[in-house]
Amino acid sequence: MKPSIILGIDTSCDDTGIGIVKDGQVLANVVASQTALHASFGGVMPEQASREHLKVIDEVLERALGEAGLELPQIQAIAATFGPGLIGTLLIGLCYGKSLAWSQGLPFIPIHHLEGHIASCLAEGDIQPPFLCLIASGGHTSLFEVSAWGHYKELGRSLDDAAGEAFDKVARLLGLGYPGGSALSKLAQQGDPKAFMFTRPLRQQKGFNFSFSGLKTAVATLVASLGDNLPKADIAASFEYTVVDALLHVCQKASKKRGINKLVIAGGVAANRLLREKALALPWQVYFPPLKLATDNGAMIALAAYKRLKLGEGVNNPWQIDARAYLPLEAITHESYPSI
Ligand code: KG4
Ligand code: ZN
Repeated sequence: MKPSIILGIDTSCDDTGIGIVKDGQVLANVVASQTALHASFGGVMPEQASREHLKVIDEVLERALGEAGLELPQIQAIAATFGPGLIGTLLIGLCYGKSLAWSQGLPFIPIHHLEGHIASCLAEGDIQPPFLCLIASGGHTSLFEVSAWGHYKELGRSLDDAAGEAFDKVARLLGLGYPGGSALSKLAQQGDPKAFMFTRPLRQQKGFNFSFSGLKTAVATLVASLGDNLPKADIAASFEYTVVDALLHVCQKASKKRGINKLVIAGGVAANRLLREKALALPWQVYFPPLKLATDNGAMIALAAYKRLKLGEGVNNPWQIDARAYLPLEAITHESYPSI
């Protein structure tokens, strides 16, 4: 019998996430955020992040089990992110997940972090491939063609900063703290998106790549030229408008070229209000994760494992799979992760 109650762990960066799904329904999703710990550094301190994961992970497990109303022996399979991410933080969740599974005699399923982000969109129902999938987060911005679950072809990616990274850097320029994507978006609601016309990145390209570092520099130059009385809300709104336009422009081009009118948008930036609004206005089938599952969490890892198991696509030798800081999604495009 296939496992139906699956526990998923994500420690790829600075959030300790553990979630539990039953038959594809999310029963628990607990995330211990380290934002306050890293805020004074203006970014994630990898060593500190690893130590913090270790400190809180037992408690996060207890809280997740409590939220689901389950005891550990009722869990039927354990999944954990094995890459990409910070190598030290990945190791904590992966070793914890393997140990938990081994001690309970359960199957263990290593999951690619980006496959987890894609699977976060399954929380509200199944999605039939083929579809395009835009993943926009703090560490990644890529567009994939998903011909079948588990089969991912990268059509394009950011050539420099990820979209979330650009949000965070511009938020910092505006004094909105770290990570500032969400705060910037809130402020943007009070601003005029047409106040400043920034050049649209890579508008003339033939492919499906993204670029955000030039835009970030343009905002930095503008901020420096305006001095003390910054129209922060207008800058935030104009920046946000440009990023959303750039992301959706590439999706529209790819849709035309590949003849696919189904779009899944995942990753932390999928929490962005304007991106949701503009994407949902497209004449396509568009899917987002629930807001709580947009940023890093363990439930999306459990959902990805559930999908794999449902399709009969487990992983050969899961115990031998090690943490990988760099791991293209295409590397796992086969059911059994043969070469990892
Ligand atoms: O997926 P995620 O939690 O972590 C990575 O895997 O990178 O994404 C975090 C990123 C951060 O850069 C954060 O600023 C951005 O997602 N983000 C947002 C919003 N909420 C989170 N960006 C724009 N608008 C938001 N509402
Ligand atoms: Zn992520």
